[in-house]
Amino acid sequence: MDWFAYRDDGQLYCEDVNLDALAAEVGTPVYIYSRKTFEHHYDSIAGAFAELDPLICYSIKSCGNIHIIRLLAERGAGMDVVSGGELHRAKLAGVDTSKIVYAGVGKTDAEIRAGIEAGIGYFNIESEAEFENISHIAAEMGTPCHGALRVNPDVADPKTHAKTTTGKKETKFGVDIERARQFFEAYGHNEHCRLTAIHLHIGSPIYSPDPYVLAINKALDLIEELRGKGYTIDALDIGGGYAADYETGKSPAYTDYADAIVPLLRGKGLKVILEPGRTIAANAGVLLTRVQYVKTGGSKKFVIVDSGMHHLVRPAMYDAFHFIWPTHLEPNYLPEHRAMEMTHEGLETTDVVGPICETGDVLAKARMMPPVNRGDLLCVFTAGAYGMVMASNYNAMPRPAEVLVDGATATIIRRRETYADLTDAETKIETVRV
Ligand code: LLP
Repeated sequence: MDWFAYRDDGQLYCEDVNLDALAAEVGTPVYIYSRKTFEHHYDSIAGAFAELDPLICYSIKSCGNIHIIRLLAERGAGMDVVSGGELHRAKLAGVDTSKIVYAGVGKTDAEIRAGIEAGIGYFNIESEAEFENISHIAAEMGTPCHGALRVNPDVADPKTHAKTTTGKKETKFGVDIERARQFFEAYGHNEHCRLTAIHLHIGSPIYSPDPYVLAINKALDLIEELRGKGYTIDALDIGGGYAADYETGKSPAYTDYADAIVPLLRGKGLKVILEPGRTIAANAGVLLTRVQYVKTGGSKKFVIVDSGMHHLVRPAMYDAFHFIWPTHLEPNYLPEHRAMEMTHEGLETTDVVGPICETGDVLAKARMMPPVNRGDLLCVFTAGAYGMVMASNYNAMPRPAEVLVDGATATIIRRRETYADLTDAETKIETVRV
């Protein structure tokens, strides 16, 4: 569900803003976000789980512009951060720091100190060594903090890409259930880092509620056992991973997840935390890119655009599907849905590729698309999550601007990078005494 739609004039709009007109103003490539879509998805997931009065910690890693963080925080969201940089973003955006959970396997001492200083809600703890370090730093600072032990429940959605599954035993995340028991024996009464919660995150995206049910049931058994042994467990963080509609109607509804999960957690005396990123951000953003050249090679048609793997790496990295379609169309090409297979008469098999000097620089492969010409504007849909945040300067390409649309108003919330931005950090050099 989103507010990117074609109107009868064959033109694509974000809310009430015509995207061709917007691109003419702000240039390409550019990420465009719809405020209404962000709000809709946040409200929908919060609404579906409302009975549990959960804390929804938006996963900043999915789309971390401070203006996006702020608009969600203003609606009541907490934040899931994984670095000092994300914590910095959350603080700049005015997030209530007690609603921040901090995950990640490699937190540095400086990052841990910053988290304790900020008074975050929980550190999601990934290993014994990390726990000892956090507890040591908290003792040194004289400021106790709270920890949620990340438990790896050994479940995974078979449809999740190997690179983004995290709930299986052999990933680097968390500890298995048996080790969790020993973990509490060793650290469950530590006064510097109070281990009072369990954290799960089984992968992303998870296209069915079933793996959550399996994982939560395992966590609940563990919690009951721990409570029986006298440990206080007051929160369960069930992580993120809820799917988004890369193709129309493919992801479960929020109520599908909630109908399966809420009954498990009702009346358990646990503060429930969710960490959704993709499901809120993905459909709320698109990448607009302009066709530079059309090249026919053998039986193939290459559409070469001014964006690529350096701005949206998901197709190159995970073979991810993003629907791509021109922003203005003959009426016969209006897409009634977004899907891998499109069947309008007159479509051509097309590869959409970028300017980067790598064969892997692909946005779409062998896609049925309307004929496009040099100068046309293409929309890469469902690019709000893991788009701009994973963009790089490879081949010394400046990163795109970001624009937030609210009704008929468009605001540049991150200016386009310049060549000076590319080299500024290299202009002041200094010799290091060793
Ligand atoms: N919580 C933790 C501990 C996570 O590691 C993640 C994502 C999330 C929450 C949010 O998951 P979400 O709700 O967004 O699915 N770059 C990949 C996705 C990597 C996900 C990393 N962890 C992609 O483009 O598909």
